[in-house]
Amino acid sequence: MSLIHPQVDRRGFVREIAAVGGAVLAGTALGSCGRADDAHHSHTLPVEPDLAVRGGTVARVPLNIPQTIAPSGVTLRAAPSPVEILTGKTTTAWTYNGLLPGPTLSARRGDRVTISYVNGLAEESITHWHGMLPDHANDGHPRQAVGPGGSYSYDFTIDQRAALNWYHPHPHMLTGGQVYRGLAGGFIVRDSFDTGAVGNPLGLPAGAYEVPLIIRDASFDSGGSLQFSNKSSGFFGNMPLVNGTANPFLDVDRAVYRFRVLNGCNARIWRLALSPAAPFILIGTDGGLLDRTYSLSEISLGPGERVDILVDFRSLGAGATAMLRCLNAGWDLLQFVGTGLAVLGTGLPGTLPPIDRLSAPVLTRRFTFDGMTRLNGKVYDMGAVEFQVPLGQVERWIFVTNGNGPHPVHVHGASFQVQQRTGGRARVFDWERGWKDTVVVNDKETVEVLVQFVAHTGLYVIHCHQLGHEDGGMMANFEVVAPT
Ligand code: C2O
Ligand code: CU
Repeated sequence: MSLIHPQVDRRGFVREIAAVGGAVLAGTALGSCGRADDAHHSHTLPVEPDLAVRGGTVARVPLNIPQTIAPSGVTLRAAPSPVEILTGKTTTAWTYNGLLPGPTLSARRGDRVTISYVNGLAEESITHWHGMLPDHANDGHPRQAVGPGGSYSYDFTIDQRAALNWYHPHPHMLTGGQVYRGLAGGFIVRDSFDTGAVGNPLGLPAGAYEVPLIIRDASFDSGGSLQFSNKSSGFFGNMPLVNGTANPFLDVDRAVYRFRVLNGCNARIWRLALSPAAPFILIGTDGGLLDRTYSLSEISLGPGERVDILVDFRSLGAGATAMLRCLNAGWDLLQFVGTGLAVLGTGLPGTLPPIDRLSAPVLTRRFTFDGMTRLNGKVYDMGAVEFQVPLGQVERWIFVTNGNGPHPVHVHGASFQVQQRTGGRARVFDWERGWKDTVVVNDKETVEVLVQFVAHTGLYVIHCHQLGHEDGGMMANFEVVAPT
């Protein structure tokens, strides 16, 4: 069968790809299939009725790569603005600086971040830097929300590991709608171990070979308007967007690529895999690089979680294709199209730097995620402080569900290390190793983490990152206090 029809040059960049939806190549290593239209092994997967990408012809467009800016002396303005997501249609999204996703902020450990946030929305908002570890005043706590026309000045110095973090609104009860309508962007921190250091000591792919992928779902009406309802059961869009692009493709050279992947969905869990089957080389998670690589055939990623992966396209020939897919939804997410251009000097990293292990917790706290709106039995009370954590103390936090999972549990102000999962899937997955700030807890699961707040005293939150649950009140304030 033919996967690629001759490219139809529509407005210079749209190409026609036939019969992508539902069809996969099975059992071959990436690139060993040669040109896709020579592949012999194929079969058809069941196709969801609301699949945006159906069998037949799909017009693919180049993947958007958000512009990168240094978060120093910049203004981020949240406001409604017109964007083109569906070809030929205008969507009014809510964007940072007119872009969906917002610009990728990129800075080095030790850099000072100075950002003026301006609220150009018709409702209150504030911006949180998910995964960043600033003091309370710079964390975008719901208490700091500013009204329409208001602004908030952020000023902090980055002192944490290199990682892909992200930014998004965090006002009480309004986060889901604001993130869904487009307010989200990447925030990459680099350090002397990562790229951006002099000499790139680990030899990780950089420049055009390092690509952020913010993957989320959305639904549109026939006019191109975003459809949304802030159900506490969670909003599920009926098609994927990668960096705001519907049906994207990315031209890839014969090289190793580094993908910095964020699940930016309100509620959906991605189960990522490559087709034809080929491994992801996992090198990092939420809080940065792992201490070794893992070769994985699939990765599950809940809202707010990130992975840092390498994909080896060195044997992908000119015109050959591969697909990043979600096995849960049965969706094609991003098509890779080989250019055939061989790039010298790219490879897989050898040793990754070690990770300090947390150990010897002095205290255990238990958190139950109840129904769709409560944490430890209570709906979020923005004025309350539910518990206090001494700065520097290693604690064991246990996350338990009481139905209505999955609950992607997120903690502000610190990273944690997942120790074990009992019940349900009953194991810790490789993509949950290292430093994390978000971990998925399914029904009947108990997940245990070790956490230590090392940087700042002050007020932070723990909450469910299923944004319907978060907005419904599945969140609690706690205060990091000076050790006694
Ligand atoms: Cu990504 Cu408290 O949020
Ligand atoms: Cu939840």
